[in-house]
Amino acid sequence: MGIYLDNAATSFPKPKAVAQVMFDFMTENGCTSGRGAYEKAIEADKFVYQTRKAIAGLFHFNNPKKVIFTSNITESLNLAIQGILKEGDHVIVSSLEHNGVWRCIKTLERDKGITLSKIPCSKDGYTKVDDLKNLIRKNTALVVMTHASNVLGTIQPIAGVGRICRKNNIPFLVDAAQTAGVLNIDIINNNIDLLAFTGHKSLLGPMGTGGLVLNWDGEIHPLKSGGTGGDSAYEYQPDYYPNRLETGTLNVPGIIGLHEAIKFIQQEGLDNIHKKETELIDYALNRLNEVDNITIYGPQDSSKIIGVIPFNLRNKSCEKVAYELDQNFGIMIRSGLHCAPSAHQLIGTEKTGTCRIGIGYFNKKNDIDHLVEALKTVSSNKNNQ
Ligand code: ALA
Repeated sequence: MGIYLDNAATSFPKPKAVAQVMFDFMTENGCTSGRGAYEKAIEADKFVYQTRKAIAGLFHFNNPKKVIFTSNITESLNLAIQGILKEGDHVIVSSLEHNGVWRCIKTLERDKGITLSKIPCSKDGYTKVDDLKNLIRKNTALVVMTHASNVLGTIQPIAGVGRICRKNNIPFLVDAAQTAGVLNIDIINNNIDLLAFTGHKSLLGPMGTGGLVLNWDGEIHPLKSGGTGGDSAYEYQPDYYPNRLETGTLNVPGIIGLHEAIKFIQQEGLDNIHKKETELIDYALNRLNEVDNITIYGPQDSSKIIGVIPFNLRNKSCEKVAYELDQNFGIMIRSGLHCAPSAHQLIGTEKTGTCRIGIGYFNKKNDIDHLVEALKTVSSNKNNQ
């Protein structure tokens, strides 16, 4: 594997123990959870419950039964947004949302007549909390905000937004795709009503894992209906959690892998993980500025961003840069619109896209050195477009 700098898309590598526990479960147990009464099935139940508990603990939450597992954060976001919004409702979103939020809301706007407002944002990706106040209407039924932009990396003021939402009695949904596992997220103190997370990015778990944590008693219509393993004669989804919103066979090996990943994060310490990534961001920002023809977008301040750095070379398309880095230097980065077109509008790259490096816990300064030296060559290469 060459040099992996696409951790904002998915983290790599994972702690070895994550793959090991998944292998062990699949070879030594392999049973589904919530269905059987035999010993191995009960053991599988226990593994799943322990993971719910670990996730609740990680986010300073107290009710594991309200940790709903999904197959990815897009499902978590759709579950919350489609489950809460009804015809005639108004929703407020940030200007930085990923398509996991944006397409879901635009579809409801088109098909169900909901209305939406965007909180303005500076070119550097900062949102002012007070701008939210002016957008609240009588029928505002939800506020959705990404915790950190997957394009610019900027960390959003969720604590302030949460306070305003609580004061106005509006449920607040946070998209923690880029932050869970690297920033401390306190559901209670930050007045987060619904937290959507993915397991495979900074949480260092496997793909196919994610969830929605519910710190809210309002009605969420289930996205799916089906078997929950209990009350089978009842013809609708049960009212109790997690079964109300969790249906069909769970990804038990993935969930067990995710638990192991959380244990790893706790052993390393969330603060240490954040500190290491911040040092790497600083180092990368300094060194990238050595490259001729580079434009780096966003605040270029490691205290304001997570490990996402977007840039372009003035003389070459982002796709070409990413291709040359991969083919000639074995360096993997992302290029294009990163599924978040409104964030690109802020920085004027909605037509061109950007290159993006995603720094992860296992990256080293040396990876950045290789990237910078390779970019110097790519930038000076006359084979442009
Ligand atoms: N949303 C992920 C990213 O930003 C996949 O790359």
